[in-house]
Amino acid sequence: MMEISWVFIALGAWLIALAFLSKKFNHPKRKLPPGPRPWPIIGNLNLLGSLPHESLHHLSQKYGDLMLLKFGSKPVLIASSPEMAKEILKTHDAIFASRPALAAGKYISYNYSDMTWAPYGAHWRQARKIYLTEIFNPRRLASLEYIRVEERRILISRLFPLSGKPIMLKDHLPLFALQTISRLVMSKKYFSDHYDQSNSDISIVSFETLQRMLDEWFFFGGAINLGDWVPWLSWFDFQGYVKKMKVLGKNLTEFHKYVLEDHKAKREAEKNYTPTDMVDVLLNLADDNLEIKLTTDSLMGLIQNLLVGATDTSALTIEWVFQELLRKPNIMEKAYQELDRAIGKERWVEEEDFSQIPYIDAIIKETFRLHPLCTLLPPHYSIDDCNVAGYDIPKGTTVYVNAWSLGRNPKYWDRSEEFMPERFIENDIDMKGQNFTLLPFGSGRRRCPGYSLGIKVVQTTLANLLHGFNWKLAGDMKPEDISMEETYGLTTHPNKPISMIMEPRLPLHLY
Ligand code: HEM
Repeated sequence: MMEISWVFIALGAWLIALAFLSKKFNHPKRKLPPGPRPWPIIGNLNLLGSLPHESLHHLSQKYGDLMLLKFGSKPVLIASSPEMAKEILKTHDAIFASRPALAAGKYISYNYSDMTWAPYGAHWRQARKIYLTEIFNPRRLASLEYIRVEERRILISRLFPLSGKPIMLKDHLPLFALQTISRLVMSKKYFSDHYDQSNSDISIVSFETLQRMLDEWFFFGGAINLGDWVPWLSWFDFQGYVKKMKVLGKNLTEFHKYVLEDHKAKREAEKNYTPTDMVDVLLNLADDNLEIKLTTDSLMGLIQNLLVGATDTSALTIEWVFQELLRKPNIMEKAYQELDRAIGKERWVEEEDFSQIPYIDAIIKETFRLHPLCTLLPPHYSIDDCNVAGYDIPKGTTVYVNAWSLGRNPKYWDRSEEFMPERFIENDIDMKGQNFTLLPFGSGRRRCPGYSLGIKVVQTTLANLLHGFNWKLAGDMKPEDISMEETYGLTTHPNKPISMIMEPRLPLHLY
């Protein structure tokens, strides 16, 4: 009996020594970034709250601008300063250019075969090249300007009869944005809305249903799904997210398949068919001998990224602008004055006018500084071990860059909480990812490929809404009553959108 116990003790001691040695051997003197102590099972998930970017911002003031947390059992690095954002997105860009394999990528992005959730690799590289050279090349974008102009006119003519009545931008901008991108990507709308029944033969969903599907795509893309971080809990799907994502994935597939089939039929029906829209371009590429074959899943993923990328983003940016401007009537007045001076009262603002209206440009930048739509940039993921600012970051670490923190960093932004577009007149800071104090479109390899389209739509829509109408708060609401509270998601919305009254500013024959 005694002999057996000794054998067990010796075996136990040997195993402990082995575990210790293997830990030491695998991670010789690893220096990890500071961070709060994780709890068993949940790690630091309890610290996130309903506005994770704000919770992480506050934590970074205690632990520093490079913190290591645990979401469940997985390491998560948070970069909260321009210096650390630069380390991740520029110095070590190639290592952090992947995405974690979250359930959203699997269930609502065709098993990672879109661009947003694709891991860094050959498929993603090819998709990015297609976007930049075929879809968003300056020649193609310029040739489609007429669509953007027509859709903007439709928006203005729908708003005009509502002059003098309380309206909410959120009831108008999403439809305008979805309609514009649908025509750019697919030539026509495959959804019906209460203004226009002319496409009832090809529409397979209502605007409300399609919009809800896109909203849900953003919601699940930003949501903390427990099963992603505590894998053994994924089976239970306590939050019900995976179940809902599967339904959403099915509905999105149905929509995209219909669009693809309709385009294929059109190609087959016409001899010498020339591509007219972005779906046609993608279908042509699918016939080519590409390095990675474009499958139906990747075609659907790439079309979906165009729809979601362009809809929520431009509409929300403009909502945030108005949320700020109605709090500061003197800034709104300066914008009107600039438009009257540069454009005059006899015409609308065109894309080519933008160099003449720097104050409107400054208003947009200031809005992005305080309200980057992706308050946390979509997660990046390290594909190798590396050293960031003296800390060892293991392969397989998820990284969030807190864009919300960057825009509030007092070292770079004077009176950082105040909305002051003038700061961009004095200092021409770019938003394309070269300046790490302002990253509304990200930076590096994963930087937003839709920048040029997104910024054009935001600039001209905003400029024309301001040029065409005088805006004021509805009812007896005062500027100081406007709430700047946010609702968090992959994109962050105003929690309490405001009701406004507009009156035409231009001669009536222009509406
Ligand atoms: C106001 C407009 C827009 C804003 C603020 C915006 C912002 C962003 C941000 C912050 C990212 C993530 C960058 C990163 O991971 O580091 C991103 C990625 C992306 N955006 Fe945009 N975006 C806008 C418009 C658009 C448009 C118009 C499209 C397409 C039609 C688009 C398509 C995409 C795609 C496909 C990605 C994923 C890139 C990748 O993972 O490699 N975006 N965008």
